[in-house]
Amino acid sequence: MHPSTVLGPRGLPVRLQIRDVVVDPGLVLAPMEGVTDLAFRRLVRAVGGVGMTWTEFIPGEGLARGDDRWVRMAAFDPDERPVAVQVYGRDPALLAEAARRVQDLGATIVDINMGCPSKKVCAHSGGSALMREPALVAAIVRAVRAAVEVPLTVKMRSGFDAGQRNAPDIAFIAQEEGAEAVTIHWRTRADGYGGERAVDRIAAAVDRLSVPVLGNGDVVDPHSAEAMLRQTGCDGLMIGRGAMRSPWVFRQVGAWLHGLPVPEVTAADRRDALLAYLDGCRSHLADNPRGRGGLDGGRLDRAALGRFKQLCKHFLDDVPGGQEVRTQVLRSGSAAQAEALVVDFFARDEHAA
Ligand SMILES: Cc1cc2nc3c(=O)[nH]c(=O)nc-3n(C[C@H](O)[C@H](O)[C@H](O)COP(=O)(O)O)c2cc1C
Repeated sequence: MHPSTVLGPRGLPVRLQIRDVVVDPGLVLAPMEGVTDLAFRRLVRAVGGVGMTWTEFIPGEGLARGDDRWVRMAAFDPDERPVAVQVYGRDPALLAEAARRVQDLGATIVDINMGCPSKKVCAHSGGSALMREPALVAAIVRAVRAAVEVPLTVKMRSGFDAGQRNAPDIAFIAQEEGAEAVTIHWRTRADGYGGERAVDRIAAAVDRLSVPVLGNGDVVDPHSAEAMLRQTGCDGLMIGRGAMRSPWVFRQVGAWLHGLPVPEVTAADRRDALLAYLDGCRSHLADNPRGRGGLDGGRLDRAALGRFKQLCKHFLDDVPGGQEVRTQVLRSGSAAQAEALVVDFFARDEHAA
């Protein structure tokens, strides 16, 4: 564990530091493509308890060219701090240029993706394919390090596959070239989102590295948070799908780590958050369309509905009867219809707040 990491009453970390950036609590929102845009990050921040946020990954090449679409994707709110903007790619010079742009935008931290399993990204040797090219990892981190002054971090999986679980080596190389914190998702690229839980590579990286390590993978509640922290000795936790299912996970884990009662989430909390998210999607997509050109009318509605459906897939899991309304929402043809379904569902007696 890093000497600057602060332990709470349970003897587990509650706060970490990446160079001079204080991450308090040491519970951060994972980068998730198609999910952690401004609207989702606003939802998570409004609920509270998150120590730092990450953007979705952004192609270094597009950002280096200054393409509007990708520059917009790197946008964050002025009070969203600390915030990391994540870039991916395989060309050190382009990633260095992308990192410069990220720094110019005012991001707290530049993060390099070395964990994405997608075929498209790996085909170009970005994402987790980099874990098979240690010399390229060194070259990328060195080039990006030389290009920016803000703290630099990397995120990776435990390895490419069961035969190459080399995260401690790759993380060490990244550290020696100037990375100031590392996040490790316990799965290998071959595990996809399955695999049998094994956090030993995170623990080995914690032993080997002198920079803070964030543990990642299936942290969804205080119980799974405790397991990750105790079994690896990591400095903090990154949470992805757990936040889609319940953005209150940060407050709940944080309260537990501080020895405080874990806050309950009511049906009204869930309804309000879902509806606020839909509104947030509409306004965010109207201001910051993902594609080129503006989104209006039908396209805006479809884009907002797409985002809303994606969140509902996870968000209604913990609500009694949630499966049924989720199916209906997934079949709905407009954002207004989906909204009405959610309002009706939560208005039923058994869900009344
Ligand atoms: C929909 C989705 C999109 C993701 N996109 C990214 C990404 O852009 N960059 C990245 O480093 N990881 C990405 N990930 C991986 C997550 O950041 C995280 O490592 C993984 O989901 C494991 O954590 P969890 O079990 O808390 O979700 C994505 C995961 C999901 C589910």
